[in-house]
Amino acid sequence: MNKRKIFAILIALFFYLPNIQAQVNPDKALLYCAEQAKSTLKLIPRQSPDIPRSINQGKKDWRYVDYKDWCSGFWPGILWYLYEATGNNQFKLAGDKFSKELIPLSREKAFDHDLGFQIFSSFGNGYRLTQYPEYKKIILRTADTLATLYNAKVGTILSWPRSVPNMNWPQHNTIIDNMINLELLFWASKNGGSKHLYNIAVNHAKTTMKNHFRADFSAYHAVVYDKLTGKKIKGVTHQGYADDSMWARGQSWAIYGYTMCFRETKDPVFLDFAQKVTDVYLKSLTVDGIPYWDFNDPAIPNAPKDASAAAVVASALIELSAFVTDKIKSEAYSKAAKQMLTTLSSANYQSRNQNSAFLLHSTGHKPNESEIDASIIYADYYYIEALLRLKKIQKGISIYQKLK
Ligand code: GLY
Repeated sequence: MNKRKIFAILIALFFYLPNIQAQVNPDKALLYCAEQAKSTLKLIPRQSPDIPRSINQGKKDWRYVDYKDWCSGFWPGILWYLYEATGNNQFKLAGDKFSKELIPLSREKAFDHDLGFQIFSSFGNGYRLTQYPEYKKIILRTADTLATLYNAKVGTILSWPRSVPNMNWPQHNTIIDNMINLELLFWASKNGGSKHLYNIAVNHAKTTMKNHFRADFSAYHAVVYDKLTGKKIKGVTHQGYADDSMWARGQSWAIYGYTMCFRETKDPVFLDFAQKVTDVYLKSLTVDGIPYWDFNDPAIPNAPKDASAAAVVASALIELSAFVTDKIKSEAYSKAAKQMLTTLSSANYQSRNQNSAFLLHSTGHKPNESEIDASIIYADYYYIEALLRLKKIQKGISIYQKLK
């Protein structure tokens, strides 16, 4: 038996024991999400900022943001997923309303790389479900805007086009989160946009693969490049514990990002890499499947958890398990995803009557002391995405098909 098989068996065993207990029921969990979201809709103010972003620990009131915030697309995305899950027109109308608040992003100059998070979670899902032609135009325009941040000498998109501590501005910086925004470029290149967008996405993913990872395949949060020569200057952190630590959500973006790159390109290099960045994460995970915010925080086990990373990884692993041809490994990924969703759907992690978000215990920016052990909208977004993917698999349909 080769080393990979032994590793896969260990992972499978690791996740088998807790699975003897009750498994997540996606129907029940989706119903729960719908009720929580209806409560949030009643709380939302009538004036901007009105897009829910987070609820601090022990509180019930949302912090609201406007379209410029990097999290602005997740709430409309959640509403679209709820429309898909329930067929309820209330969610469709709200999805449309909150997506449209983001239209200025498709007209203004790029001030961040987060355009994919913002526009693809909102209008991307909206277009997938409605085929409204105006949504498509907005997505295509925004993909072109994102492409303006690409530096061909480096081979990546500039994530933060401004001075950020430790990024040697005006040198070029790229953060691992940026992998998710490539999905917008891939989609645009296949739906009427320029083929150049596809090449940008592939170059970004390959350059990141080369420069953004340590020997064990854990990710740096940020890499700084010389903007003229394209040479790597350094790997550093911004939101993690230390430059050399494995920040949980950063690793989750890598897992999700390389899985998505394989879906979009069918290049086996990305499938292999997606497994490598996944395996270092799973190997270090505690038995409940929810990571501490940073795997190397010396305060563990008294450090906060990050449910958002678990939700991102659960969603990614459902997709990755379908790509992996090795049956044992594929099954291990699928079991791991179900275990994560089972824990997230338990009384320990669902907000229930504590507040109207779906989940508790996410950590946004620990070094800045913000959104620690909080409810955060992107945790809810990837949680509902993962639940929908699981429900589709249980129904015997592809995760890319519409539910109804
Ligand atoms: N993209 C920022 C974060 O993951 O917190």
